[in-house]
Amino acid sequence: MTSSAVVGCSNMQPASAPPANISPAERRELFRRGAQLWPVKCMQCHNARPGSEFTPEQWQMILMHMRTLANLPPQDAQAVYVYLQGGR
Ligand code: HEC
Repeated sequence: MTSSAVVGCSNMQPASAPPANISPAERRELFRRGAQLWPVKCMQCHNARPGSEFTPEQWQMILMHMRTLANLPPQDAQAVYVYLQGGR
């Protein structure tokens, strides 16, 4: 497995957030995919926590760590992020 860029905790790059300028349709598609990925990928190690439990900023930090644990490629991390935000 090739390890992608190691993202340190001090790196504030919102790696899990989708670009701000995506269209509503693209956003809806990410949401739909995130809704499918979330229970499958995020419940391997613990219960999947609802989006309402954390703020968008907290989710960015959490996903920065969890997407490596869950082995999510960036697009999937974005999908989960959009889903968790949309579920608020
Ligand atoms: C390989 C196992 C694994 C997978 C897969 C995984 N997690 Fe976690 N998760 C952990 C562990 C271990 C902790 C607790 C220790 C820590 O915070 O690093 C944790 C903690 C958390 C927390 C708690 C943070 C807090 O402060 O209470 C949240 C929220 C979370 N994970 C979300 C997710 C989401 C969302 C996904 C899917 C993208 C995911 N996790 C996938 C192992 C995993």
